[in-house]
Amino acid sequence: MRIGLLSDIHVDINYYDGKTDMITPAVCEAVINNGVDVFISAGDIASDHSISLDVVDRIEKTTGRDCLFIPGNHDLWNENHPGMTADQTYRKLLKHPHNLASGPVSLKPGWSAAGDTCWYDYSFGTHELFSMDDLEKRTHNGRVWQDSIMAVWNRSDQATHDWFLNRLRDSFEKSASDEIIAVTHMLPIREFTVPVPNDTWDYFNAFLGSVALGDTLIRNGNVRYSVSGHVHYRKTVEKNGIVFICQCLGYRTEWRDNDDPFEEVEKSIKIIEI
Ligand SMILES: [Fe+2]
Repeated sequence: MRIGLLSDIHVDINYYDGKTDMITPAVCEAVINNGVDVFISAGDIASDHSISLDVVDRIEKTTGRDCLFIPGNHDLWNENHPGMTADQTYRKLLKHPHNLASGPVSLKPGWSAAGDTCWYDYSFGTHELFSMDDLEKRTHNGRVWQDSIMAVWNRSDQATHDWFLNRLRDSFEKSASDEIIAVTHMLPIREFTVPVPNDTWDYFNAFLGSVALGDTLIRNGNVRYSVSGHVHYRKTVEKNGIVFICQCLGYRTEWRDNDDPFEEVEKSIKIIEI
């Protein structure tokens, strides 16, 4: 079975002519051309949950393949839905049967995909430079971490982090003894954070994932692959018996070689075989 992986496609931020989604057609073409049986997105399809759900449905209708996903932080943003809390948006997204946050999905006998958005607890921050009080401000050098404005949970990030981790453990338990592809938006290992020292990221790495998330994946014992996004890198690290994959399309402004969505998506999608 061929699994196609690509996260952070940000169809709206990557609009062409201000309104044309060229990314979804490019993803569909790559899924078909690469003989993908199941496509998995680790979040940040769009910065509006209604667009994200529409993209998932369009990918499935066009390719005839399942598009499994978990919400990223951007999918939970309320910029286009003033007043909605992150919890309200998250629960709307849970209604989609291919949102892994609503439960694991069997891929084939002996293999399941399971996952959730997960969150950050500041453990990836540079604590020699910034105290927990500093990080709780979620503002540094005039830059504001936008989740603090647009993904409003009405509780601390640590509480949100712990809530997600409990949900993830429950989801793993429902996968029984299957080998697991674990899908999270947040990063489970420090190797995927932005290299430091770095004036900006010494601070903002705090909001990329958590050490406890990685420990949870490793301790589970059945996780064979970890798929994450969020940081807009493409990197694979193998350790502790797990292949950790961060596979992001990212923003057009970050693409190094071209401005062609079809070429960039084809270059960015990663195929694993189980
Ligand atoms: Fe992203």
